[in-house]
Amino acid sequence: MNIVLLGAPGSGKGTQASLITEQYGLPHISTGDMFRENIREKTPLGVLAKSYIDKGQLCPDDVTVKMVEERLSRADCKKGFLLDGFPRTISQAEALEKFVKITCVLDIEVPLDKLLGRLTGRRCCEKCGESFHVSVIGKTEICPKCGGKLYTRADDNEETVQSRLNVYASQTASLIDFYQRKGVLKSVNGDAAVEEVFAAVQEVLNTL
Ligand code: AP5
Ligand code: MG
Repeated sequence: MNIVLLGAPGSGKGTQASLITEQYGLPHISTGDMFRENIREKTPLGVLAKSYIDKGQLCPDDVTVKMVEERLSRADCKKGFLLDGFPRTISQAEALEKFVKITCVLDIEVPLDKLLGRLTGRRCCEKCGESFHVSVIGKTEICPKCGGKLYTRADDNEETVQSRLNVYASQTASLIDFYQRKGVLKSVNGDAAVEEVFAAVQEVLNTL
């Protein structure tokens, strides 16, 4: 199964990806996580990516496509993969078609007015990478899953989130139509409890 997770910032792509990976054993490939790893390691790609991510803009298509193409060519992707946050432009989707066939694109739908609160209240674990929300975990700085240290992503402040939401509307949302026309789009309601969203995701994946 070659799966793409589509959805606005904060729709729950990372949260669902982690559950999908646990259940179906697909490698989770998040372009945002890959860029952030490069930023932490201060690689040239990280320095470039940071200048876009900090403003809530998309990194250039050419470097993003190259990074994904290299990742998908590794042995662990031979039996399938789960892409999270890629593609994000029509040009990235067209490039992707040239090197793999996508089985299903899962679009996680959440009303726009819910996203800002989800993102500004998000806390991520330095150690296991899991995301949580302050409405669930409170003020703790310790990861409930692995005991690692929690942090707030640099792009989760209100101003940058607003810009990410604008970028989603202007550059990414058109992928819904793009994949609908290709007959591979499935939508799930992401405005429900995490477990309910995952049940809907499983319903789709189990029919593939
Ligand atoms: P990326 O890291 O992919 O960020 P994003 O798309 O903005 O999405 P998020 O990770 O913020 O949200 P998510 O959907 O994963 O939600 P999550 O599960 O964490 O990209 C970051 C940046 O990198 C981009 O802005 C861009 O600059 C660059 N980039 C990445 N890919 C690129 C590409 N292809 N091309 C160019 N540039 C690229 O959940 C969010 C919060 O909600 C959490 O607190 C969580 O606990 C909570 N939550 C989750 N599910 C639920 C639920 N069902 N109910 C209530 N709360 C929930
Ligand atoms: Mg994410």
